[in-house]
Amino acid sequence: MDDYSVSRDEKDVPEFLQYYNDRYDKMKKLLMRRSELRSATSVKRLERRSEGDQAAVIGMVKDKYSTSSGKYIVSIEDKTGTFKALVNEREGDKIIPDEMLGISGNMGGDIIYADSVIRPDLPIPDGVKTTKDEVKAAYISDLHIGSEDTLHDRLDRFADWLGTKDASDVGYLVMPGDVVEGVGVYPGQENELDVNDIYKQYEMFEEWIQKVPEDIQIIIGPGNHDIVRLAEPQPKLNENVLERATEYSNVHLVNNPQMVRLHGIRSKGIKNLMYHGHSFDEQIDAIKELRENAYEEPYRVMVDLLKRRHLAPTYGSNLLSPEAEDHLVIEEKPDVFVSGHLHSHSNYSYKGVNVINSSTFQAQTDFQKRVGHEPDPGKVTLVNFKNRNTEVKQF
Ligand SMILES: [Fe+2]
Ligand SMILES: [Fe+2]
Repeated sequence: MDDYSVSRDEKDVPEFLQYYNDRYDKMKKLLMRRSELRSATSVKRLERRSEGDQAAVIGMVKDKYSTSSGKYIVSIEDKTGTFKALVNEREGDKIIPDEMLGISGNMGGDIIYADSVIRPDLPIPDGVKTTKDEVKAAYISDLHIGSEDTLHDRLDRFADWLGTKDASDVGYLVMPGDVVEGVGVYPGQENELDVNDIYKQYEMFEEWIQKVPEDIQIIIGPGNHDIVRLAEPQPKLNENVLERATEYSNVHLVNNPQMVRLHGIRSKGIKNLMYHGHSFDEQIDAIKELRENAYEEPYRVMVDLLKRRHLAPTYGSNLLSPEAEDHLVIEEKPDVFVSGHLHSHSNYSYKGVNVINSSTFQAQTDFQKRVGHEPDPGKVTLVNFKNRNTEVKQF
């Protein structure tokens, strides 16, 4: 596991600066790998270019305004200054505050007429990583234990199935967050709780874990309903809320987000990027294309973020906590990118990455009824690491 420690101290201006510099430097490195940006220059040097010259620049989006023609004026900032670019409507719609991108086009005095917007994206895959052994990982999330809508029967049926011969090659159970429903997460939640003590909710989860065969390694990250702080990166669940379960050698608690290597040692293994998905709501809301379909097809927002190589590009979309390092940059290409949070399901492949949104075991809540969101519960995605074939089972 690529573990990291999460600081719990109060943050001040220097930490924010350090955090921004780290994000900037990491993202710039990723963008420089794009051939279109090899000749990118700094904003300061851009100012010396003459009208009509070709130019490319890398920077962070400071502002965006739409013009009367439907195009956008975007302010890009690097460490040497700020510059404006005129971007067409289609590209401009997708540009969001604080993201790092590249722009290439022609100089027009104090503005670049952009002909392309370049994102770091993932490289073209040169084959997919596999294991020698026939071993599968099962992906579930958003159990919301303690809610009156938790589908306990289906969860039990799934645990029973894990004990059957049919599931004998399942070696891993990956759960990216919202293990319990929590208490006081939103106004009026108390009326929809079955258990109103969060510690009891975790105890119920521990009882369920006992039903999972001991030879399956269970990897658990936190989500926005869990007991840890909301700001990301979220530290792993404290062992004292899962006292019994953490005594079992097959239970592993991880941060959110976290890159976890399964079925290998050190740099080997299948790289699983686990991220609960709290930033998805704001990301979907900010982009027209995503507003239209990302709640039904959650892979769309996940692929969008893979292209941007950041899990929460807009500051504030995940109540971010600035660490010395930005752990939300997708520095390394994962083999599997798994999230939950949206309570829908996706099993998609993008540039050799299995993009999984791992459903939920909670039926539609009253809140979801009010906002018109239809969950897609009880779906379990299985990835066979030997050949990277996938399968979805309905429980
Ligand atoms: Fe959830
Ligand atoms: Fe969530």
